[in-house]
Amino acid sequence: MKISVIGAGNVGGLTAMRLAQEGLGDIFLVDIAKGLAQGKVCDLEDTQAILKSNFNIIGTDDINEIRDSDIVVVTAGLARKPGMTREDLLNKNAQILKAVCLNIKTLAAKSIVIIVTNPLDLMTRLAQQVLGLPVNKVFGMGITLDAARFANLISKELNVAVTQIEACVIGSHGEGMLPLPRFTKVSGEPLDKIIGKDKAQELIVKTFDRGKEIVAFLGSGSAYFAPSAAIAEIVTTIAKGDSQTLGLSAYLNGEYGIKDVCIGVTCRLGKNGIEKIVELELNREELAALQDCASKLKEQFKEIK
Ligand code: APR
Repeated sequence: MKISVIGAGNVGGLTAMRLAQEGLGDIFLVDIAKGLAQGKVCDLEDTQAILKSNFNIIGTDDINEIRDSDIVVVTAGLARKPGMTREDLLNKNAQILKAVCLNIKTLAAKSIVIIVTNPLDLMTRLAQQVLGLPVNKVFGMGITLDAARFANLISKELNVAVTQIEACVIGSHGEGMLPLPRFTKVSGEPLDKIIGKDKAQELIVKTFDRGKEIVAFLGSGSAYFAPSAAIAEIVTTIAKGDSQTLGLSAYLNGEYGIKDVCIGVTCRLGKNGIEKIVELELNREELAALQDCASKLKEQFKEIK
């Protein structure tokens, strides 16, 4: 298996490390900045003797090295700075993403492409349009990260092990996310049966703000430990040929009454990409919120120059 990670910044570098340590195949880390991927890979290679583990990882500034990859992860782009919304990033990252996807189209047209660059749902749809690959092979990592954040905050609030929590978040990654208390389970019990509406809403607001909270603490750059773990989970599922239901930014074609947009929904993921959109039985309010979020994404997509 050949797995390429484009963008060797915080998220890409750490993703490459996790994938190499998982022993999933040959990992190629690529960055436009001269020496960055090479430097990180030299450092990563040096961990092998300490970890008593062999892996094959290559760092390069030559995009041609992604040729014939089975999986390509795109983290190339600018990260959010304090005070900047994901949408502020839109046009800068759209330009980068377009250039990267044209290269993937030429060099690795049979790959499964996982988009990480923000604003995630818009970049995923743009990638699908530029790549022209089947839409089940091009999708984005976003809401599993939001769900992980929701789970962590619930765990702290209720003093329950995070492993006992299955958090459910759909919608747009970031400001438009829709954490769903009815579908979120704590030791098998729906969250809305355990805590009141107000407390649930408080946790939801904290989840919305988690990315910004991290950006504000860091001062420069944005989150990368949890994002890289979320990417590694997706890549591992595909590479090991497992099948798993998890949240992805996926193209909808009528599901939930939504068309022509990429948005975070629960999907069945397997070795060939998205096998199926798993439609949750949303109530009227939840469905309206998801549809509203999809309409906003469509409007924002028109802003891409
Ligand atoms: N080809 C390859 N790499 C590129 C290109 C390109 N055309 N353009 C930019 N890059 C590289 C930059 O050189 C940089 O090293 O992308 C890297 C981005 O790294 P960081 O700035 O550290 O950003 P990071 O925190 O990794 O986030 C990357 O993921 O979570 C999202 O919002 C985040 O969109 C951002 C992306």
